[in-house]
Amino acid sequence: MIVRILTKFTYITLSLSLLLSGCNKTKDIKAAVVSARKEASDIGITILNKGGSAFDAMIATDLALTVCFPNAGNISGGGFLVYRTASGEVGSLDYREKAPLNAYEKMYLDENGDVIPEKSTLGGLAVGVPGTVAGLAEIHSKFGTLSWEDLVKPAIDLAMNGYIVTEKQERSFRNKKDDFIKINGENTFYAQDFKAGDTVKNIALAETLKRISKYGAKGFYEGPVAESLIKRVREAGGIITHEDLIKYKPVWRKPLNFKYKNLNIYSMGPPSSGGVCLGQILKMIEPYNIGQYYHNSEKAIQLIVEAERRSYSDRSKHLGDPDFNKIPYNQIISNKYLNNRMKSFSFDLASQSKDIQAGKISWTESEETTHYSILDQKGNAISVTTTLNGSYGSKVFVEDGGYFLNNEMDDFSIKPGFANMFGLIGSEANSIKPEKRMLSSMTPTIVMKDNNLYMILGTPGGSTIITSVLQTILNVYEFGMDIQSAINAPRFHHQWLPEKIEFENGVFDEVSMKKLQEKGYDIKQDYTRVIGRVDAILISKNGIITTGADPRGDDKASHLYH
Ligand code: GLY
Repeated sequence: MIVRILTKFTYITLSLSLLLSGCNKTKDIKAAVVSARKEASDIGITILNKGGSAFDAMIATDLALTVCFPNAGNISGGGFLVYRTASGEVGSLDYREKAPLNAYEKMYLDENGDVIPEKSTLGGLAVGVPGTVAGLAEIHSKFGTLSWEDLVKPAIDLAMNGYIVTEKQERSFRNKKDDFIKINGENTFYAQDFKAGDTVKNIALAETLKRISKYGAKGFYEGPVAESLIKRVREAGGIITHEDLIKYKPVWRKPLNFKYKNLNIYSMGPPSSGGVCLGQILKMIEPYNIGQYYHNSEKAIQLIVEAERRSYSDRSKHLGDPDFNKIPYNQIISNKYLNNRMKSFSFDLASQSKDIQAGKISWTESEETTHYSILDQKGNAISVTTTLNGSYGSKVFVEDGGYFLNNEMDDFSIKPGFANMFGLIGSEANSIKPEKRMLSSMTPTIVMKDNNLYMILGTPGGSTIITSVLQTILNVYEFGMDIQSAINAPRFHHQWLPEKIEFENGVFDEVSMKKLQEKGYDIKQDYTRVIGRVDAILISKNGIITTGADPRGDDKASHLYH
């Protein structure tokens, strides 16, 4: 009983903060864009208002994030789109970065076979071949209805006229300033002390976007933009060549599809682990009817954690780029296999990850990726997660281009058993090979319920992406929350290794925590980071659209009304 009261208290407290920040529940919404920044969401809505589709709005929103959310928004990273058109066609585009042609398996190891610190995270060697611009151009050629120039223009205008720095952003710039200077020198653009309320105009980025507007993907992968990118990567110790840029191609892939009760879920398959792990965890939980327990109660936490433990251990062994590995799709999300995996689970005692394999873990960096969800007035649904990997990627800034380069190479398993910046461990399936895509956790997801569009969602958060998407779905479907409360509700995370369960700071009740510890769970509550920043759209059975933007960031939902 106490658990329930305390848990509900936490939940009500968070819901109140939502009410103060403006609840988005209205009968009148006919289209919505939810992203990490108000400017980007508003630009997406402007495109929809002009008669553009969700795909058009995606391109404009994405490029706007490049300007006003430079820690993760990008033209120089990669991402995944999962979509469902109004007519019911479902698909996904993989525009994940690739390893350069000159990459090799041991490129981050010294002569003793030890990992060289920071080589895969900071500086030019960390940079993977970018996929974003090729991805956006591909989406436009398949689905675009407005002209490419019309979709790039709002981002050019935003870069020219400037965006306003938020308080969270001021902190983010300040925290990374030393790295910006270490990699790019004292005079680098973002070494300026931008304060909350300041306007940042990025004229160099506007010029880059103008070339992309005029020449499409070639404006990025060829000509002067490519020239300056390669020059900067080389200066910073990297190996990307013109051939890498010219050869880059996004890939249309079948989304990962699975069922949970009467939900039919589409998410990203490999090279993301997101869809597979989300499917595995939900299916392992399904037989236990988690909705019978209170939200974030001891038993609900146990179920989720134990399913996560088993799924993340599979992730490390079996998942990688499907163009280089045979992925055991049929088995890995089958009921038979997953029921078997849960045979060792008991509510009485925690399983121990260390009995399976020990790992050396480091949590050194925040997870910076960004997600946006779009629903247009016709019913086309877009779920996109895109990333530079770490916050501001490799910190290598292309000064005359106005943008940061990714450090996605760290998402490879740089040495078997060695933990990446998210503490994730990999094996041969995710080893470095030329032109291979590094394994991701990004989980852009579209959920159908009884054959109707139900939820569009995703989040940044590195390894915590999968669990944040999972908990948001469960919060709505099993625990009866509205979408904003489901997003606000406190989250926890477990990923097999390290052994710990991470809980958002100060929001879980002590009684449950104590009981979990008594059962042998390793609890970490002094966790200072937030877990995920989910942006989502929910469509009720009678067609009412509600949106949720995560208050952990500056995220914002913008709407079109009837
Ligand atoms: N770079 C984070 C991810 O792809 O999972």
